[in-house]
Amino acid sequence: MPQIFDRSSNALARMSLVLTGLIVIALGVTLDQLQRSPWVTRQGQRADQPIPFSHEHHVQGLGLQCQYCHTTVEKSSYAGIPPTRTCMNCHAQIWTNAQLLQPVRQSWATGQSIPWVRVHDLPDFVYFNHAIHVNKGIGCETCHGRVDQMPLMYAQNTLQMEWCLDCHRNPVKNLRPASEIYNMAWKSPSDDHPVWCAAAGNKSGVPTAQSVDCTTKNPATPGGAEMAAMDMATPPVGVQAGGLGAAAIPATLHFEKFTSQKQLGRFLVVHYKIRNSRDLMSCEVCHR
Ligand code: HEC
Ligand code: HEC
Ligand code: HEC
Ligand code: HEC
Ligand code: HEC
Repeated sequence: MPQIFDRSSNALARMSLVLTGLIVIALGVTLDQLQRSPWVTRQGQRADQPIPFSHEHHVQGLGLQCQYCHTTVEKSSYAGIPPTRTCMNCHAQIWTNAQLLQPVRQSWATGQSIPWVRVHDLPDFVYFNHAIHVNKGIGCETCHGRVDQMPLMYAQNTLQMEWCLDCHRNPVKNLRPASEIYNMAWKSPSDDHPVWCAAAGNKSGVPTAQSVDCTTKNPATPGGAEMAAMDMATPPVGVQAGGLGAAAIPATLHFEKFTSQKQLGRFLVVHYKIRNSRDLMSCEVCHR
């Protein structure tokens, strides 16, 4: 049988197969990149807000706590955006004529809320809950970045499924004492900056995360115990003032020293009663 195609066309066919393959791969990679690109996820973008509200000024400059404005973050699934009344607590007296604040005054006068543009917005088929994360030792900064250094709000992370799963797979690397949730500058323990924690036993009616007391002052040094007690006298997240005062701390607390995130994380996983990663990765957790 005579050859219809000569040798060179054989090579050509192989070549075009390889080329097609390369194009398909390139297209796939491009689409994948696009899907993850900040253009789609809006990661890092400053939204065009009706008022250029600065977290840097209000948090770092004025020392306001997150809960002053995001009042429901410890108790509900939503952190909440503050009503105009919260702004007027101060701006009825301060900067009363500033042009920048005209939309605040207008909102106050008309009773129409300020049309803030949402920066973080998960699709409706995803269930998310602030209270559980905050009460189980995940800091605002872990998910939202250094908000205290943001003149304008932007999303530090993609909020894509793979980002959620990366932590659910191994929460150990991100857990911190519940008392440090609002600390924007929290650093994982190290040899230079150890953390001491004591499990205070089962305090009935108090969520598990609150029954662990941690301090960055050595409780064994003279004065250290009092410093630790003072640290604890500040009620941790979610606990009413007076509910957990220094007087309520048992004298026999046994403090353990932690010099790495891994050690601390493992301790907290046990005492915060965090489920194993297989349970936390199951689809029903976030898609109900
Ligand atoms: C004085 C009030 C105030 C304080 C204090 C405050 N915030 Fe906000 N926050 C706002 C307002 C108003 C918005 C909506 C406008 C914007 O996105 O900038 C907002 C938006 C946000 C958003 C984005 C919401 C969205 O649309 O997705 C996050 C995240 C956030 N704040 C986190 C924090 C954290 C963390 C702290 C503490 C370190 C904090 N805020 C302290 C008033 C405040
Ligand atoms: C605890 C008091 C307080 C509250 C509450 C407060 N502000 Fe302010 N705000 C200030 C002060 C003080 C300044 C001046 C800051 C400066 O220039 O250092 C300011 C400045 C501003 C400015 C001018 C730009 C800037 O950041 O310097 C805007 C805009 C503003 N605030 C918006 C708001 C909005 C919107 C809210 C409500 C979500 C709010 N503020 C709540 C005290 C407050
Ligand atoms: C585990 C990650 C995580 C932690 C920890 C976290 N957030 Fe969020 N936050 C999110 C996600 C995800 C959204 C978007 C929720 C949505 O679209 O339904 C969000 C949305 C918000 C919003 C917009 C309003 C709302 O309720 O949806 C504010 C304000 C906010 N977070 C503040 C905070 C503050 C303050 C803290 C710390 C006390 C905090 N967040 C801790 C992930 C987190
Ligand atoms: C930095 C770590 C971290 C990130 C990021 C994170 N989570 Fe979580 N999540 C946790 C921890 C820790 C728990 C508590 C687990 C427990 O108590 O067993 C939790 C619990 C939950 C729960 C509660 C499950 C239940 O049955 O009560 C939901 C829902 C959830 N996460 C959804 C999400 C979603 C959606 C995202 C991404 C938008 C996300 N999480 C990102 C650490 C994280
Ligand atoms: C920790 C929370 C979490 C868990 C567990 C989880 N998802 Fe998701 N999933 C998300 C989030 C958040 C999104 C939205 C992503 C976005 O907006 O880009 C999402 C999106 C999706 C989508 C839409 C397509 C996409 O990729 O955006 C599908 C399909 C999906 N998830 C399937 C699953 C399946 C199947 C499982 C179980 C194997 C699962 N998810 C487990 C958080 C979770």
